[in-house]
Amino acid sequence: MTAAMEFGRLSQWRDTGSLGEAKARELAARLELRARAEDETAAREEYLRLLGVVPGERVLDVGCGSGVVTRAIAQRVAPGGRAVGIDPSPALLTVAREYADAAGLGGLIELREGDCRNLPYPNASFDAVLAATVLAHVPDAGVALAEMVRVTRSGGRVGVFDFDGDSLVIAHPDRELTRRIVVAQSDHGAVNGGLARQLPGLLTELGLIDVRVKAFMPLEREPGSFYAGLAVRAADVAAQVGAITSDELAGWLAAFRAVLATGHFLGGRLHIFAWGTRPVS
Ligand SMILES: C[S@@+](CC[C@H](N)C(=O)[O-])C[C@H]1O[C@@H](n2cnc3c(N)ncnc32)[C@H](O)[C@@H]1O
Repeated sequence: MTAAMEFGRLSQWRDTGSLGEAKARELAARLELRARAEDETAAREEYLRLLGVVPGERVLDVGCGSGVVTRAIAQRVAPGGRAVGIDPSPALLTVAREYADAAGLGGLIELREGDCRNLPYPNASFDAVLAATVLAHVPDAGVALAEMVRVTRSGGRVGVFDFDGDSLVIAHPDRELTRRIVVAQSDHGAVNGGLARQLPGLLTELGLIDVRVKAFMPLEREPGSFYAGLAVRAADVAAQVGAITSDELAGWLAAFRAVLATGHFLGGRLHIFAWGTRPVS
């Protein structure tokens, strides 16, 4: 593969350490928009339930972004517990602190700058460790997973919730062009759009026991929804990598705007939650 075609070259979520404030606020608003959707809220509640997060626990949220998952963890670990969010972006962490304080959860949440491939915590620091839609954007996700296992206590749980890049649903009359856009977004809008399918095997190889998986398929229908925006960004990625021409892009976007105007939009993406337990040593 040439450098120009490197997977994940156009991911907006990798190398976020140097994000400026304006861009961080834009990305944080996008994460919060996604998180407010009904199916997303239900998925988050369900995967935190499956991870077994309970009051009093200390839980790490790897790649916390705007902290929407960290806040949901904080509500579950109260009283007496701690939700810890880590992210390479100081600008995103500033926004996450604002959201946490505004929600009255600031006292339950620690936020720290760091990289998931080198977690700044001693072994066995947490009861549970989670990464939600992070690892598909990280080169060397296997290193990150090993780090997540290392900082989990024996008997603690490790969970990963990630999207399956090839399973992006976009309602559009041109199925052939849409298929090319989905593949381009999967390959170039993420470092590893296929990681979710490998998660149970990777967690098992790292020595976790009782490894399980559950599928989630958040869907949205509103023109202003996260997935309507993602569809447009995906088309742009496809044009940038040469998967579609600029004329095809213009035609696809015009037809997509018509779908939005008639209220017939439907979008979403398969997500896989894989989790397991660190054996008691
Ligand atoms: C799509 S966002 C998901 C944020 C949050 N987990 C959520 O579900 O709303 C991906 C996040 O991963 C973070 N990230 C990217 N590379 C990372 C790395 N090497 N280590 C830790 N986090 C990373 C980004 O800064 C960003 O906040």
